[in-house]
Amino acid sequence: MRIGIIGLGVIAPYFLRAIEQDGELDLTAACDLDRAKLDRLPDGPELFTDYRELLGSGLVDGVVITLPNHLHAPVVAAALEAGVDVCCEKPLTVHSSDARELAAVADRTGRTLFTAFHRRYNSHVQRLAAELPPRELIERVVGRYHEKIEEHTGDDHWYLDRDRCGGGCVIDNGPNALDALRQVVGELTLTDATIGDVRGGVEFYAELELRTEDGIPVTVELDWALPTGETKDIVVHLKDGSTLVADMLAGYQGFKSSLDHEYQGIMADFRAAVAAGPGRTDDGPVVVDLVEQAYRIGRSKERRLRMPAKQDVSAKLVKLLFHRRDDRGMTQSPWATRCIRAGEVHELVTTTDRPTAPGDRVDAVGFLGFAEFATATVLEQGDQLWLDERLVGEVVGFDECHFPNHYNVLIHTDRLLTAEDLDLRAGDLVVFKERA
Ligand SMILES: NC(=O)c1ccc[n+]([C@@H]2O[C@H](COP(=O)([O-])OP(=O)(O)OC[C@H]3O[C@@H](n4cnc5c(N)ncnc54)[C@H](O)[C@@H]3O)[C@@H](O)[C@H]2O)c1
Repeated sequence: MRIGIIGLGVIAPYFLRAIEQDGELDLTAACDLDRAKLDRLPDGPELFTDYRELLGSGLVDGVVITLPNHLHAPVVAAALEAGVDVCCEKPLTVHSSDARELAAVADRTGRTLFTAFHRRYNSHVQRLAAELPPRELIERVVGRYHEKIEEHTGDDHWYLDRDRCGGGCVIDNGPNALDALRQVVGELTLTDATIGDVRGGVEFYAELELRTEDGIPVTVELDWALPTGETKDIVVHLKDGSTLVADMLAGYQGFKSSLDHEYQGIMADFRAAVAAGPGRTDDGPVVVDLVEQAYRIGRSKERRLRMPAKQDVSAKLVKLLFHRRDDRGMTQSPWATRCIRAGEVHELVTTTDRPTAPGDRVDAVGFLGFAEFATATVLEQGDQLWLDERLVGEVVGFDECHFPNHYNVLIHTDRLLTAEDLDLRAGDLVVFKERA
């Protein structure tokens, strides 16, 4: 099979070595905008700076595409239309609609569309998939993809450009992590996603929650900001408390040294897919769907991980209270958040009740006292109340029976607490902190 490669950046050498080692593949053409990168290639392939010329040259049967993410959709489409089989780096595209369109073009042209998910060929992932115990024994599964992104990129900072990359660690690391998990536990449905550590519109951290078809919970942690080194693994937690682990990097000593056997797997599988002819369904679009859903949920959420949205605020206890009641009849306000002006005084009330809906009755209460807020803030459900180094409880809501004089700030605690129980003194400071 005569192969071309479009894009000679950081990941290209792994493809080039895999092509060289595969007796059935012959590198006949290469393309990059950067002439210097082309000139560094060994003699043999015809060199192009315009991918359209490569595709029209008649020199290739198949092409490997290792371009920045936003170029995948147009270049893959052009290759398929030119009658060339395509192996494209993940993510197949930035948008789901483009991925579906490419699948349709592949169907129409009868060419192979193949997304390169290298972790599915990882020896440890394959072993875990083969040795997975009966599913009823599995409690949950966690996949981690933690790295320092700067160690994996070239000179061009397209990774940090939301328009060219499509996002951060979710679209960059998500596809390989999700695909590896799909090889182990099967089809996945996304149930939740939270992004965080967002810099210049690009997230450096994310947590995705998914479920298998038979309901096993799967968590994916994606981190671009590991201080040093990398962790890429899948941990299957069994109901008996034991774990099965696929540490993707175990035994591969040098930096990125596991990639050689993985990219050999890609090229062998691509060749087999082309030989098998039309009819294969590529997993690229399904994974782009999961990534797009994760962004839809994560970006529309108010919550961000690893990036505080407000400052801690202290409040001085100006009057202590010592009583508790089990029939107080407070009412959960409809508001999840309340603005507090600097200098306002509000009453701090502990409760073992768990009001969830507006109007819920709150009977079991203990009184800490009235506190003056030093600075303006927004108090919200989930905020934590701290006394020195001790976590007292979490804000569950507000009761407005004394408003506009003051709010009762309802703080959930495991048992009812009064000023006495916390050994408070008039003038003591408590601190409200955003949930970590
Ligand atoms: N770097 C990694 O560790 C890694 C791992 C897995 C997958 N990938 C994927 O591989 C793809 C490429 O990533 P990379 O890290 O190699 O990027 P890179 O920036 O190092 O390389 C991209 C190359 O494409 C060239 N290029 C850009 N526009 C072009 C155009 N219009 N025509 C021809 N050449 C053009 C650039 O000159 C550059 O050499 C991305 O989709 C990425 O997600 C990268």
